Amino acid sequence: TGMFTYDPGFLSTAACQSAITYIDGDKGELLYRGYPIEQLATNCDYLETCHLLLYGELPDAAQKKDFVSRVTNHTMVNEQMQFFLRGFRRDAHPMAIMTGLVGALSAFYHDSTDINNPAHRDIAAIRLIAKMPTLVAMAYKYTIGQPYMYPRNDLSYSGNFLHMMFATPCEEYKVNPVLERALDRIFILHADHEQNASTSTVRLCGSSGTNPFAAIAAGVACLWGPAHGGANEAALNMLGDIQKNGGIENIGEFIKQVKDKNSTVKLMGFGHRVYKNYDPRAKLMQETCKEVLHEMGLENDPLFKLAMALEKIALEDDYFVSRKLYPNVDFYSGIVQRAIGIPVPLFTAVFALARNVGWMAQLNEMIGDPEYKIGRPRQLFVGSVPREVKPMAER
Ligand code: CMC
Repeated sequence: TGMFTYDPGFLSTAACQSAITYIDGDKGELLYRGYPIEQLATNCDYLETCHLLLYGELPDAAQKKDFVSRVTNHTMVNEQMQFFLRGFRRDAHPMAIMTGLVGALSAFYHDSTDINNPAHRDIAAIRLIAKMPTLVAMAYKYTIGQPYMYPRNDLSYSGNFLHMMFATPCEEYKVNPVLERALDRIFILHADHEQNASTSTVRLCGSSGTNPFAAIAAGVACLWGPAHGGANEAALNMLGDIQKNGGIENIGEFIKQVKDKNSTVKLMGFGHRVYKNYDPRAKLMQETCKEVLHEMGLENDPLFKLAMALEKIALEDDYFVSRKLYPNVDFYSGIVQRAIGIPVPLFTAVFALARNVGWMAQLNEMIGDPEYKIGRPRQLFVGSVPREVKPMAER
């Protein structure tokens, strides 16, 4: 009963007011706090972007120094985390591990669990920014049976992540600056994207007054799905399948399947609820992709060539043109991650570590909003009228 606006998938419902991220889907524009994504991706690093998203302004030199030092202070995780991790099967999906580990942080940091206390939220945000790369790298090392590499605070944020992922205690590891910059750009491009499914999940979860780590764990769980953050993994698997079945020659057959009304096959890394034009992040990602492939001597990488050919064909095909389906960020991010050496099942975990700051900024904004209430959607009830329970023999 009751008259409510019925809007499945929230196609036309604004769930909140926000001053963080602006998207113009028709023009293909993305701005964080007023700054175009192209300028941030070119002139700033990820931690500056985190400062911008969390506090509203890019840091000056002194603020940056202070912010970096606060983050690096928290890069280690409690040693108990290793025992928790050990409970997982070695072949566990990294996102299964991440939902567990991030949620478990709430059991360790009692000074940052009161979501209504701004100081608690702030230290939780710093802890999460600092520890997520450590957790992702630990999840990876665990699945391949290598020793964990402790964080190195003399390295940059992305340099340290590369070190924790790929260094071993046996030999010296030198961070490649091209890969470091590429990874940093992946982090910047994924840092926030207004009210997408995982961000809305974090807001809804946090609106009950749960602790910040639990709310972020809910975001990680939502991001996992192939329609959202899992698309980078799904896109690369799709490219691999097309490659196996004949490569570029096979694109026509694949597109036919996608267009078939009775098939559920989608062109992964294409389409977006908001962008009805080229996703600006996809352009930047394609640029980075070329740089990384060049650096690694992979200019002739068959999957990249396949992706470029697939994009070209799709952008000229009436099915995609009429539906305004363009490449999104995930079309190229998987190829970049793979060239860096990050294994496919870890792609979405990398997305999660980058998006975490956006989730925390959105949580802060929601709780600071005087109109904030627990999120409680209504429904249009379409079930049975009231009826009597019959005794078992009469059912
Ligand atoms: N391949 C083939 N057809 C598609 C695709 C696609 N990737 N995306 C949308 N369509 C079709 C869809 O079938 C529908 O056709 P019709 O009108 O004939 O029924 C039409 O285009 C409109 O699509 P929709 O499903 O109503 O659009 P949506 O806003 O509900 O879905 C989406 C958006 C991103 C879930 C969807 O485009 C999709 O599943 N894309 C593939 C997965 C993907 O790449 N996701 C990453 C999104 S960007 C990163 C992130 O933020 O997570």
